[in-house]
Amino acid sequence: MSEIARNVRVMQKLQTEIRNRTKTKQKLDATDVAKMTYLKMVVKETLRLHPPAPLLIPHECMSQCQVGGYDVYPGTSALINAWGIGRDPTVWGENAGEFYPERFEKFEVDFEMVPFGAGRRSCPAMNTAPATVEFLIANLVCWFDWEVPNGVKNEDLNMEDVGTLILRKKLPLCLVPWKFN
Ligand code: HEM
Repeated sequence: MSEIARNVRVMQKLQTEIRNRTKTKQKLDATDVAKMTYLKMVVKETLRLHPPAPLLIPHECMSQCQVGGYDVYPGTSALINAWGIGRDPTVWGENAGEFYPERFEKFEVDFEMVPFGAGRRSCPAMNTAPATVEFLIANLVCWFDWEVPNGVKNEDLNMEDVGTLILRKKLPLCLVPWKFN
């Protein structure tokens, strides 16, 4: 919600996609949300820039292997920097730090999986969690317009995070909802 509130262009494009599907309906259901391609890109882009577990969960190497030319010995702790991978300009280009969901129109790798880890201990909610987030965001932006209060400019919303294993917003997001008829 912070990224969408900060990026008016994205908010408007998202509302158009969602409201076009709900013109004659009073309620959104899962089949409506499944067809919302821009919404899916917005959620992927959010997880790219804000993986809730920026270093995933620490893992311990059980048998000797080589990663990127380095020998890794049993007992070594391995941390995967999902936050760094999500912002690497050699992967995402010059605008890696920008919230630009359209990049997923062309991006062929399934990046959305990185914030959920990989392999046998990856997140079992990898498929259901994004669907839940999509459904929630679709409802919030479909039925309400959102205003940043107290004269703060949208683009000046505070985006700092705090935390260790799991990040959360440093300052709670405060927005004013206006019922959309
Ligand atoms: C956007 C939402 C979520 C994200 C980004 C996320 C991310 C992660 C990550 C990074 C891991 C560690 C993977 C690894 O060790 O490499 C994990 C593990 C796990 N997640 Fe999630 N998760 C999300 C939602 C959920 C939800 C909704 C549930 C349950 C309903 C869930 C249940 C679990 C469980 C049980 C594990 C431990 C799996 C294991 O150690 O074998 N997660 N998740």
